[in-house]
Amino acid sequence: LLTLPEERNWDGTSLYLYQGFWCPSIAIKPVFSFQQHFQALDSDLILASTPKSGTTWLKALTFSILNRTRYTLKDSPLHTSSPHDLVPFVEFDVYLKNKSPNLMLLPSPRIFATHVPYGSLPSSIKESDCRIVYVCRNAVDQLISYWHFALKLRRGNVKPLSLDEGFEKFCHGVHSFGPFADHVLGYWEANLDRPKNVLFFKYEDMKEDVFSHTKRLAEFLGCPFSAMEEKQGVIQEICGLCSFENLKDLEVNKSGKRPSGVPNSAFFRNGKVGDWGDHLSPSKAEYLEKLIEEKLSGSGLTLKICP
Ligand code: A3P
Repeated sequence: LLTLPEERNWDGTSLYLYQGFWCPSIAIKPVFSFQQHFQALDSDLILASTPKSGTTWLKALTFSILNRTRYTLKDSPLHTSSPHDLVPFVEFDVYLKNKSPNLMLLPSPRIFATHVPYGSLPSSIKESDCRIVYVCRNAVDQLISYWHFALKLRRGNVKPLSLDEGFEKFCHGVHSFGPFADHVLGYWEANLDRPKNVLFFKYEDMKEDVFSHTKRLAEFLGCPFSAMEEKQGVIQEICGLCSFENLKDLEVNKSGKRPSGVPNSAFFRNGKVGDWGDHLSPSKAEYLEKLIEEKLSGSGLTLKICP
């Protein structure tokens, strides 16, 4: 670690520049273990994302789609378990305390989540037939969401990071698993190269039409909804169960902590598109949007503040 460039993370801990991305100190050793030990199975599902782009939502939807015949809506484990317990992060849960856990005992399909950029995923993931679902969000809303999240994570009497400082850092790519544009582009290109294995979602599109995204997700996961299920309203039920309003008010998501120390409640703030408008001037938002636009230019990908 001593040889890696280091910066202060937004919550007062450290970020290390590793393989071109800024890795939070708590995740660095788990990321090494993930790269070294993870053996992908063709049946695996990997939910990948930039932090604060809707990972919790994607976890809840994926879990519900895959387990819809196992549980009724009423007894879904989502009522009593955090989506992060049902779909663990490799870097914050799976490899946090154990360098080489036995993952072969997990039921199939195994579902894992990660913020690790595509280029740094273990090669067995890229070489296997496993499926990756990626979700990203416009940079400005993500920045605002991350800034609030970091305030909640602040350790001891660390001075809170001002939004201006956060903005500056974000523009320089210095944030958890940043730079943002590199992260998004890595998965975007993987989606273009391997569309059967990599699905690419945007938070804003999901907010606009969660129904068709849930349907699309089920198809991609290899378990499309039958005509009968559609008729019975199963898709609507899953969307309702996984909605921000429903999950936010569940006792399990209002209390308790992740093994990394993050309170469960920190994953639910207001779940809006365009929340940046209450925090950032239009000129700053435009500046960041242009910066990202330039980096994405030629890729065919756009991430508009207002889709
Ligand atoms: P805000 O801070 O803008 O409210 P992640 O899950 O990747 O950490 O992202 C967290 C962001 O997604 C937060 O955004 C959070 O409120 C929002 N979110 C969490 N659950 C959601 C859900 N079920 N539907 C929509 N947004 C959700």
